[in-house]
Amino acid sequence: MDAFKINGGKKLSGTVQVKGAKNAILPLMAAALLTDEPVVLHNISYLSDVVVLSELLASMGASVTHASDTLVIQANALTGTTAAYEYVSKMRAAFWVLGPLLGRFGQASVSLPGGCAIGARPVDLYIKALQEMGAETHIENGYVHATGPLHAAEIFFPKISVGATHNTIMAAVLTPGTTIIHNPALEPEAIDLINLLRKMGANIQGVGTKTLTITGVSKLHGAVHTVIPDRIETATFAVAAAVTKGKIFIQGGDINLMESVADLLRLSNVILRQTERGLEVNAEHAVLKSTPIETAEYPGFPTDDQSLMTTLLSLADGRALVTEHIFENRFMHVPELIRMGAHIQIVNNQSVLITGVPELSGAIVTSSDLRGGVGLVLAALAAKGESIVQRIYHIDRGYDHLETKLSSLGADIKRIKL
Ligand code: UD1
Repeated sequence: MDAFKINGGKKLSGTVQVKGAKNAILPLMAAALLTDEPVVLHNISYLSDVVVLSELLASMGASVTHASDTLVIQANALTGTTAAYEYVSKMRAAFWVLGPLLGRFGQASVSLPGGCAIGARPVDLYIKALQEMGAETHIENGYVHATGPLHAAEIFFPKISVGATHNTIMAAVLTPGTTIIHNPALEPEAIDLINLLRKMGANIQGVGTKTLTITGVSKLHGAVHTVIPDRIETATFAVAAAVTKGKIFIQGGDINLMESVADLLRLSNVILRQTERGLEVNAEHAVLKSTPIETAEYPGFPTDDQSLMTTLLSLADGRALVTEHIFENRFMHVPELIRMGAHIQIVNNQSVLITGVPELSGAIVTSSDLRGGVGLVLAALAAKGESIVQRIYHIDRGYDHLETKLSSLGADIKRIKL
């Protein structure tokens, strides 16, 4: 199994590039199932999640080719509408093929998902929305079997779900009549999906508001699209600079997608400057400040950045409560941070109280999920001495050669085999 060996305490400096957002690439790939023409996606990071979804699409007969940072998907000769367990169990987003398959072909069988173990992560909202659109569904042998035809419906999401929003939009774009979705996710990745679908000929109104109106069209066509930059990866490098008091330029980074994180960094005297080419982060004079954090749906503080900020607050001056409102099991990295010398009290499943310490010390730690694992890498970059971060296959799901990028900024980090 691969692990990262990190010698902490190196101040980061230089330029690093961020590519397209993983959380946008995945729904965009699923959207390619809605047309028999090619969908061309630029600015792709070929992450392990992208590889798994490519394999799933190929297993259903889609052509998926990848050269440099471009992915071309053509679903003109599908041989099946079943998404097998071997793919969906590895990555929850693979479940999102359900909506487009059902919308275009009137049937789909999709394995119930796996993915990061950060909570129960049910799919009830997906299923209910499809049922309201006329789908007949049943669960058998671990698969959701759904059949159409679908009809337009008015859907109220009682809770905001990024995935259920993606799935329902993709089911509705080819469904006759006008479907209305109340309380959709407004995450930039959901907007990116809508932008691609519109390029493909979908009729979607109310974009960026709490009500989406989708009038089904009979056919969608191919499109060329550049994926939005990864705001979580951008935040990761920005926090890495902050905890090492470095100064870096994040090429392709966009502060407009991560204002809630930027606000917190500014409180710690980190200077952020957006240019046409990317985001400059100057933390040379940073004084890390404690401040309470509560995760929320966009534009609130992203749950995916909570672990990054937990590391930063472990090194900040003062005490702060971090409250997780999106997933119920997202503090699995905290016991590992404590082993590195962090003073964190686990208040309950939802909150931790962090009292900053001047320094963390290197240790052998284990990632238990993607974002928590990256929080540990950031802690190791700041810590005194050597750390080994184990189970980095979680991290590879969302970061393209993180060690190469961090090394180019001066970090002492190596991928090793254990
Ligand atoms: C996506 C992101 C993930 C991010 C999350 C929240 C991708 C690939 N993943 O995950 O990185 O942390 O959004 O921003 O884009 N829920 C239900 N029933 C459902 C669906 C969801 O109760 O049918 C709950 C979930 O358990 C969770 C909350 O809704 O408590 C939000 O989850 P959701 O937005 O659906 O997350 P994902 O789309 O899986």
